[in-house]
Amino acid sequence: MDIAGITLKNPVMPASGTFGSGQEYSGFVDLNRLGAVVTKGVSLVPWEGNSTPRIMETASGMINAVGLQNPGIDVLIERDLPFLRKFDTKVIVNVCGSTVADYLEVVERLAGQEIDMLEINISCPNVEHGGIAFGQEPGMVEYITKEIKKKAAQPVSMKLTPNVTDITEIAKAAEAGGADALSLINTITGMRIDIKKRAFSVANKTGGLSGPAIKPIALRMVWQTCRAVSIPVIGMGGIQSAEDALEFIMAGATAVAVGTANFRNPYAMPEIIEELEKYMDENGIKDLQEIRGIVS
Ligand SMILES: Cc1cc2nc3c(=O)[nH]c(=O)nc-3n(C[C@H](O)[C@H](O)[C@H](O)COP(=O)(O)O)c2cc1C
Repeated sequence: MDIAGITLKNPVMPASGTFGSGQEYSGFVDLNRLGAVVTKGVSLVPWEGNSTPRIMETASGMINAVGLQNPGIDVLIERDLPFLRKFDTKVIVNVCGSTVADYLEVVERLAGQEIDMLEINISCPNVEHGGIAFGQEPGMVEYITKEIKKKAAQPVSMKLTPNVTDITEIAKAAEAGGADALSLINTITGMRIDIKKRAFSVANKTGGLSGPAIKPIALRMVWQTCRAVSIPVIGMGGIQSAEDALEFIMAGATAVAVGTANFRNPYAMPEIIEELEKYMDENGIKDLQEIRGIVS
């Protein structure tokens, strides 16, 4: 199947930040089996992340406030990319930043690298504009997408935050800026309180909710987005089975990403791929295009 000019052997990939750089899971999962590997978000310089505790379970999900901890672009280029290139799978690098200049420098550094797609996480707080996420304001989304497209050598998927009133406005702004694809959804801001300590459960106070708890919201946003734009969508949010993946595909997603489910079951992705193949065989489906967006 094709997405933004690249061909994937199947539509299943990890959601950024839930599969390390691929290396950590490669003892469990044959990376050759995956449609693509998506790396943890990478920034220009190493980020330490937030203080602990920064992970908390919730009903049917989890809250994380890891704070995009990562060793920075140099380590990705020297250690992670050479490892990932050994496998017969596509490599998608997720990029984060605190300023537009940060994003652009990372994208420029990646231009000479053998990677297949960039995924730009615009849920990061914009330090130059009061900390509001880049992805919460359509004008900013169009601007940053345009600037990134000027520097990028690979197709660009903009990763959208669901923490907005109307996801279609943001999706259309990214399309207007020249995005080749969209990835959605990132986590939904949530909170827990430890009643014994009478304090916030995670040090950052709030964090991002992910896992099965967010699936109906993610599915609704993917469906709305697929109707609003004509670029392909990588759908994610709570996917833990082939049935979940099929719901996203029937809502219009071209590919799907599996996130929190990898923590509970490291075999989740190969299992989903196998079940999807079985579903296609049993239902006489030759190409997922036959059912993609079928509910719209
Ligand atoms: C621990 C953790 C770390 C994450 N790190 C990133 C990241 O670095 N970049 C990014 O774009 N999204 C990140 N995400 C968001 C996921 O990629 C995904 O969009 C979200 O969790 C919804 O999918 P899920 O419910 O299947 O986990 C992270 C999520 C979790 C749980």
